[in-house]
Amino acid sequence: MRYLLLSDLHSNDEAFSAVLARVKRKKLDKVICLGDFVGYAADPNKVLDRFRTLPRPTVAIRGNHDKVVAAIDGGEMFNPPALLAARWTTERLSKENFEFLKRLPVGPAVVDDSFAICHGSPLDEDAYIFSDFDASMNFAHLNRAAPAVDVCFFGHSHIPSVFTWEHDGIRVEAVRGSRRRLVLEPGRRYLVNPGSVGQPRDRNPRASYAIYDSEEKTVSFDRVSYDARSTRSKILKAGLPPVLGDRLLLGL
Ligand SMILES: [Fe+2]
Repeated sequence: MRYLLLSDLHSNDEAFSAVLARVKRKKLDKVICLGDFVGYAADPNKVLDRFRTLPRPTVAIRGNHDKVVAAIDGGEMFNPPALLAARWTTERLSKENFEFLKRLPVGPAVVDDSFAICHGSPLDEDAYIFSDFDASMNFAHLNRAAPAVDVCFFGHSHIPSVFTWEHDGIRVEAVRGSRRRLVLEPGRRYLVNPGSVGQPRDRNPRASYAIYDSEEKTVSFDRVSYDARSTRSKILKAGLPPVLGDRLLLGL
């Protein structure tokens, strides 16, 4: 099976459309979303309508912004621009899209008895995995989970990255450049972040996504240019905080 891995779309329809255009001719069996469909940018309904009508089967879990927008969480931990954008989004969501967000399951979830998905981390949907220490606690948790899986995909940090559990420690890799093919080795375990579609934060402004081939045991990372200036203009026109548009041009 070949899975398209998307995370942190954040209401950025230009970025989402560009990724879908890039993979249009690729053989894909399912589309996975690791949460944060909405928040920050100005096209929440377009992004959700597009995802909900994709011609392939989809699997999705909720992100922290989805929770706040769907009024499951009050957003007390959010910074002011994030909270303002979440409130703005709630006021504009269609009834169908609000219900869709509200019903998104909590991660971690196991897909096709094959791999796990979560938003922040397997232990806590709101926690980040940035370091080998963060990863070590989560590998310990994954090692005890049933069914046992060797790979878990996560989002939330917006940084394409790979944490590998090996017998003598944990290897950390920030995925750089436009393309990277990771081969999953037997006897190792992996926490893999495909990066963010709608708000990359690794100083590379191009949209980030990955494809997991569960037979080949490979994860292929890719970056796609999109019209970030147009996304920024929409954010400014909507009266959302300008920083949310400016950061898209820099990948911050
Ligand atoms: Fe996010």
